[in-house]
Amino acid sequence: AGFERTTLMKAHELTAKLYQYILRNTDQGKEALQYVRSRGLSDKMIDTFGIGYAPANWDTLTQLLEKRGFSLPLMERGGLISARSEGGGFVDRFRNRIIFPICDTSGGVIAFAGRAFGEAQPKYLNSPETMLFNKSRSLFHLHAARPQIRKDHTVIIFEGFMDVIKAWSAGVHNGVATMGTAFTPEQADIIRRLAERVIICYDGDSAGQAAAAKCIPMLEKVNCSVSVAMIPDGKDPDEYIESNGQDRFVREIIRGAVPAMRFRLLHSRKNYNLNEEGDRLRYLQAAVEIIGELSSPLERDHYVKDLSVEFNESYEVLKHSLHEARLSQQ
Ligand code: GTP
Ligand code: MN
Ligand code: MN
Ligand code: MN
Ligand code: MN
Repeated sequence: AGFERTTLMKAHELTAKLYQYILRNTDQGKEALQYVRSRGLSDKMIDTFGIGYAPANWDTLTQLLEKRGFSLPLMERGGLISARSEGGGFVDRFRNRIIFPICDTSGGVIAFAGRAFGEAQPKYLNSPETMLFNKSRSLFHLHAARPQIRKDHTVIIFEGFMDVIKAWSAGVHNGVATMGTAFTPEQADIIRRLAERVIICYDGDSAGQAAAAKCIPMLEKVNCSVSVAMIPDGKDPDEYIESNGQDRFVREIIRGAVPAMRFRLLHSRKNYNLNEEGDRLRYLQAAVEIIGELSSPLERDHYVKDLSVEFNESYEVLKHSLHEARLSQQ
């Protein structure tokens, strides 16, 4: 099995090189290169992230792997190629897609993600789970982000590949991505071993905000101090950088990250119409219950005070509600 892993790592390395070469040096790759550039990626970024292009042909990679003496059934189990649906033999798994290599913590390529051009579906096709690639334990670009993570004691979690890449070009070098799947407890453990502070910077749309809300308790459970960077108008970090520039992304979005509690209160508000008295009271009750989950009395008091000022309600009464909420939460 050790031998198979080593072989498969070598095959991934070769595959990454092939796709990079095709993107940068061939006619076949021209349209893909245009697309990648149209997404705002410089040649330097393409290089840093090892971005490539899997051509539209059925078996460019399969042929190369065979020629180099790799066992095709092993390559199939490794997710690089697929068995033909009929007639035997193999075809390339990734065809006509922009390729993002996914690395292990030592920087070895263990999987790929392939983005379709334009509107083809699915938008992203990833490697399957293999002996090298365990999705629930992988974070995109962690290997390269590690030095900056250590320096800042902070990890920034994004949803997507493009967000990590565009943040990197804006000088934010401690970003990783969950690659669209739900954040896992294993990922929380991995992060906690590297840093105690986490900034969640998910897409500003409702799916992204709901995902951020789910991510918070998992990180708090392993004692990370969590804040949330929120992006206006439902945009994602990549789109925000495209329309507002790198500086504003760093100054307003990343530095403007708010503590998880502030985010949870803001997020909860969306369920209430605060112009209506009944809803406003229901929101206050919900807010007090959320604040009641804080273990620090100092923090609880801070947020209750805020609430009383903002809604012009009695601090004493809110504090009493908080007390009751905590009793029933026990
Ligand atoms: P771009 O459109 O290229 O900017 O991608 P995005 O990152 O903005 O996509 P989106 O916000 O829709 O999704 C976030 C992340 O989820 C992506 O980076 C992917 O990792 C993942 N994802 C999105 N669509 C798919 C899909 O169709 N299949 C799979 N497996 N993953 C996806
Ligand atoms: Mn999204
Ligand atoms: Mn997105
Ligand atoms: Mn999108
Ligand atoms: Mn995007």
